[in-house]
Amino acid sequence: MSYYLTTPIYYVNSTPHIGHAYTTIAADILVRHQRQRGVDTFFLTGVDEHASKVARVAAEQGLEPKEYADRIAIVWRELPARLGVSNDFFLRTTDDGHKVFVQDFLQRIRDNGRDDIYQDVYSGLYCVGCEAFKTEAELADGRCPDHGVEPEWIEEKNWFFRLSAYQKPLLDLYKARPDFVLPGFRYNEARSFIEGGLQDFSISRSGQPWGIPIPWDPDQVAYVWADALVNYLSALTYARPGEDLRDRYWPSVRHLLAKDILRFHCVYWPAMLLAAGYEVPQQLFVHGYLLLDDKKISKSLGNVLEPLDLVDVYGPDPVRFWCARAVSFGQDGSASVASLHERYERELGNDLGNLVSRTTAMIARYRDGSLRAVPAADSELKAVLDPLAADVAARLDVFDITGALERVWEVVRFLNRHVEVSAPWQLAKDESRADELDRVLYDLADGIRVVAVALAAYIPPTADRILAALGQPDDVGWENVAYGRTVEVTGIEAAAPLFPRLEAPTAAV
Ligand code: MSP
Repeated sequence: MSYYLTTPIYYVNSTPHIGHAYTTIAADILVRHQRQRGVDTFFLTGVDEHASKVARVAAEQGLEPKEYADRIAIVWRELPARLGVSNDFFLRTTDDGHKVFVQDFLQRIRDNGRDDIYQDVYSGLYCVGCEAFKTEAELADGRCPDHGVEPEWIEEKNWFFRLSAYQKPLLDLYKARPDFVLPGFRYNEARSFIEGGLQDFSISRSGQPWGIPIPWDPDQVAYVWADALVNYLSALTYARPGEDLRDRYWPSVRHLLAKDILRFHCVYWPAMLLAAGYEVPQQLFVHGYLLLDDKKISKSLGNVLEPLDLVDVYGPDPVRFWCARAVSFGQDGSASVASLHERYERELGNDLGNLVSRTTAMIARYRDGSLRAVPAADSELKAVLDPLAADVAARLDVFDITGALERVWEVVRFLNRHVEVSAPWQLAKDESRADELDRVLYDLADGIRVVAVALAAYIPPTADRILAALGQPDDVGWENVAYGRTVEVTGIEAAAPLFPRLEAPTAAV
């Protein structure tokens, strides 16, 4: 079984913001979870470099486009590591392996015997920001609503892809696979778009040298989307030198993306794959926007917290936790720095951090740091933990990173109540209740261990620290999300706070 997950490749000429971090973090949670289940995974991310803007800005700065792209690709390449993200490969569309593959891919469509690529003149309004042609109806006051600029009139002889011929194959595909696109309302959106009729689109640009040359007409370059989408396949041919990973990971691929690029991924891309003779992806998950309420943060007041600076202040784990928790994954939602701080204090600091500190402190104090392994078949905790592994896995199988996290948090809340209800400090006063105290401490330690393993995909270093504080092996295999696997240890000490108090950000008024 394999699990290949991709994020959109980011335009190299923008700077990373919280929205980009959001997709990458979500993908990392999903992939790490599959690894915990022993699945053979591959996680791809990278940058999309052939947008016309790259060539324009480079020219303004007196640089060659590639020189300029090399400089700004650095920050993107570093982004995953700053977020604790474990991608297997970082693709650049200027990689030779990608360029060669795109040319082969386009040639395969041209040679498929169905006349799917033809030459025609295109004239229309083109928004450089979107890298897409616009109809009058899509404009607001003559401007692109997303970029606020007037599109340019472009008229040129281009190579076209006969998307219109794929309406029926795509509708058949959508009918046969009702979970091809998730969530369901995005599936409906994509299917309605296909039902509404598909227009052929131009896959080449003339008069600009920046891009991948069309193999049969090198005066033209591939349209940036016809180049970028292909990355999901091309990466498999050169990510591991000397190996072709396509048999291993294609078509069991899942694409993660935001709603703005639904059509490209859910309509154009499967059609292009069918035309080139490849199988379509297994599934696409379309998430909403994470919006940072940045109006409340003001540079002039000196309280600026740029999205990636959040990682510097809070560390990657709290930011990852907050991304998964603040907005239900799949929906749009607003998330403020204040909400990050609040969850840091209340949920990570109090609910989880204090639980670990208190439990280890009690084991240190009442049992001199020794934990006896005394699991009990009739333990209340066992009943709470028994369904957890399957419940969390089922949610993550449908990309519900928010629901899965909430399911784990139910256990965190249960454990906090359990401390209060079982009051180990009372039991410790009564020698005749020593066995009872051992059982309570064991269950608390075991519950915390299970929570750590279940959270390992979300907050990996924190999970390791919790296991270490309890003297447990750092094995986060999913089979360990089960009652009674905590091993007997000595030498447990009161753990230092996992999430030390931080000053609250000062919000501007
Ligand atoms: N280069 C294209 C994608 C090509 S994929 C073959 C592109 N790049 S982008 O940098 O503009 O955006 C990439 C993705 O970042 C978006 O589709 C989305 O997945 C994510 N996000 C950007 N802003 C976002 C938010 N504010 N919130 C959530 N995700 C958003 O499009």
